[in-house]
Amino acid sequence: MRGKNTVWHSATVTRARREQQNKHKSVALWFTGLSGSGKSTLAHTVEEALHNKGCRTFVFDGDNVRHGLCADLGFSDEDRAENIRRIGEMVRLFSEAGVIALTAFISPFRRDREFVRQLVTPADFIEIYCQCDVEICERRDVKGLYKKARAGEIPDFTGISSPYEEPQNADLVLDTGHTSLAPCAERVLALLAQRGVIPNR
Ligand code: ADX
Repeated sequence: MRGKNTVWHSATVTRARREQQNKHKSVALWFTGLSGSGKSTLAHTVEEALHNKGCRTFVFDGDNVRHGLCADLGFSDEDRAENIRRIGEMVRLFSEAGVIALTAFISPFRRDREFVRQLVTPADFIEIYCQCDVEICERRDVKGLYKKARAGEIPDFTGISSPYEEPQNADLVLDTGHTSLAPCAERVLALLAQRGVIPNR
């Protein structure tokens, strides 16, 4: 059995001490939504604002992570689940390190998002649904992938030939199809202040 002879080593510099030093809590900001719904742009904008306030942050981005940590994974339901599981474990470590982790993965399956929520603990998991109709994402088609998916060149494409399960209890639902970036970012920052993750302005 793997890990049989490993022992968990407890740090003396604890998460609580890091949070105290950082003057903010470490949580997972989990952005979910279709490809082209604005997850990455929003995550980076929120990160910029948090960084400017002196917070420790890191953005995990779907396309980037799939170049490295998850380069062996495709887009079958199983591979997506494994993708999200690995990210979940990374995010958990980053939380221990005192960092606000922002993630931008389609994460189309409720079960996988729920897995991460439990893994990092529900209190530290903030689910932000970037709600944007597939028609709008397709019209934007920033990466040209919807066109390819429609042409049958990309199998299992979310929103076209693979499902997206909308969150039922998201902490925040943003209408990213019709709302511009700045007000969306403001709503996220307001929620963080309201939850006591960052000091109130
Ligand atoms: S997830 O479903 O496992 O959460 P992830 O967010 O990592 O997906 O990757 C999504 C990105 O991969 C998309 O933004 C798009 O650029 C690219 N991509 C390539 N093939 C697919 C596909 N079949 N379905 C969705 N996205 C795809």
